[in-house]
Amino acid sequence: MAYSNIIFEKENRIAQIIINRPKQLNALNKETIAELHTALADAEKDAETRVIILTGSGEKSFVAGADIKEFASYNVSEGTELAARGQQLLFDFVENMSKPVIAAVNGFALGGGLELAMSAHIRVASHNARLGLPETSLGLIPGYGGTQRLAQLVGKGRALEMITTAEMIKADRAYETGLVNHVVPQEELKSFCEGIAQKMIKNSPMAISSAIRSVNAGYKEGVNGFKVEIEEFGKCFGTDEFVEGTTAFMEKRKANF
Ligand code: CAA
Repeated sequence: MAYSNIIFEKENRIAQIIINRPKQLNALNKETIAELHTALADAEKDAETRVIILTGSGEKSFVAGADIKEFASYNVSEGTELAARGQQLLFDFVENMSKPVIAAVNGFALGGGLELAMSAHIRVASHNARLGLPETSLGLIPGYGGTQRLAQLVGKGRALEMITTAEMIKADRAYETGLVNHVVPQEELKSFCEGIAQKMIKNSPMAISSAIRSVNAGYKEGVNGFKVEIEEFGKCFGTDEFVEGTTAFMEKRKANF
């Protein structure tokens, strides 16, 4: 499929999705969100693909937020629909992917951009990255899950400070607060993320999907994460990958997943 706003590449069992609207600092308009959904759904279905890396084109911006020019004249119902549809198509979709998604934060991750990075399972930032939820400066609040996921990742007090001040933080501060897992020089960002992906690829994709579902369960309203973990743990015992993993251990060889 041909895309206008993203670049989608698959290599070495890694799907790389690059948000590619550099003139708008990769801001997310509706068309880009729809294309991201299509590419992610493709990566989810593709048996060869084991890990997805999301990044922004250029050296300045990961994603500078939702496209302000697109929604500036929206009314209440259009605003509500924008958040609901975006969350369903992209942000919740990323979080609930059965394959790990790594956000390679190569510059500004603001508003919907930080919300996209926070939906991913792992975040790696380059030294130049700046992260923030500036929506209150626009008379808005984060609408793509930011009020929830930022508080989950850094705690309520730090989340409310970032949201109410609308200020950006530097990559090192994001690392200190647990918002990103690693900070690396920009020229090493791609290879560093690929290195994490290659470590994941050595492990059981079935077990990784189970682990993502179990961890996510703890953050879902009305769902008991411990119960989900027990069910997912039990299900592993009925799989070929469990047989391969344990057999390989006993035969003193590496498992082949
Ligand atoms: N939407 C639309 N266009 C954007 C954009 C956005 N979020 N962010 C940047 N752009 C555009 C600018 O309008 C500009 O386009 P023109 O040249 O046509 O004017 C171009 O990208 C380059 O931007 P700047 O000239 O502003 O670049 P800069 O280096 O001076 O500043 C910046 C960079 C600090 C990131 C600044 O662009 C900025 O503050 N952007 C907006 C960030 C923001 O508020 N994001 C939150 C959006 S709301 C949201 O995301 C809601 C939600 O949760 C659902």
